[in-house]
Amino acid sequence: MPRNVIDVTDLTVEEIGQLIETAEDIIAHPAKYQDACAHRQLATLFFEPSTRTRLSFESAMLALGGGVLGFSEASSSSTTKGETVGDTIHTVSCYADIIAMRHPKEGAPYAAAQVSEVPIINAGDGGHNHPTQTLTDLLTIHREKGRLDNFTVGFCGDLKFGRTVHSLVNALSRYENINYVLISPLELKLPRYVKEQSLKSRGIPYTQTTSLEAVMPQLDILYMTRVQRERFFNEEDYLRLKDSYILTPEKLAGAKKDLSILHPLPRVNEIAVAVDKDPRAAYWKQVKNGKYIRMALIMKLLGIEV
Ligand code: NCD
Repeated sequence: MPRNVIDVTDLTVEEIGQLIETAEDIIAHPAKYQDACAHRQLATLFFEPSTRTRLSFESAMLALGGGVLGFSEASSSSTTKGETVGDTIHTVSCYADIIAMRHPKEGAPYAAAQVSEVPIINAGDGGHNHPTQTLTDLLTIHREKGRLDNFTVGFCGDLKFGRTVHSLVNALSRYENINYVLISPLELKLPRYVKEQSLKSRGIPYTQTTSLEAVMPQLDILYMTRVQRERFFNEEDYLRLKDSYILTPEKLAGAKKDLSILHPLPRVNEIAVAVDKDPRAAYWKQVKNGKYIRMALIMKLLGIEV
């Protein structure tokens, strides 16, 4: 059985620590890794739109000296002819050594892993999970704060449909003394199953609020998210909720001096461009980190050490 990453807990805390260490070494000595995956192929199968995740996977494999193939929309694949995910994966695993897959259906990467002969990485499944964004977030927090424990993190925006939030809440629940502040409109609260599985089952306390301003002074990390238009059942609800939170320089007035602001991107309206100049904005660094941690993950799943 190949090693897959479908959920962030498919990796132990120790393994995540090692991936972060490898990513740091890649950042410091990129040339050491330039042939690490020579003659290996990564397939990126994206049944849903993406900019960062797909391109960071591809640029990660290219920086490791490997090759890339794949498709960036379901409409250009045999899916439109009625081929099942299973048969598509069976086919691609004849051409590629590792597959990163994004799909609108929750659980599709898990189903793919059941038939694949090569490692499957979940690059986002519907409103469920996004483990490699979480690895990106953890590397970013580690680089910004020097630790992955003992802080207060605010998750703000669409906590219901935001898969990056679900995965990051789950991942952080394995580290010590993290204080969770969940900031969302009432309709977009963190799903009960995520609270049960990641927080309540481990006895981890959390607070819920609708007001970002009220909690801003407590936060060490602020994880902003966009309202996930594509997961709404009607446009009216989306339009009503889309601008629930807009982070501006004024709203940061009461924030800690060493706050780190993260966002998985794409941003729509929820962070004013003026915030980009604030030294606390870490989201563009986060984009870069996504490439390095994916380089580390690809090597690990292919069993390659440098
Ligand atoms: C996120 C996603 O696809 O879930 N984007 C990403 O991968 N960086 C967040 C989002 O789309 O809002």
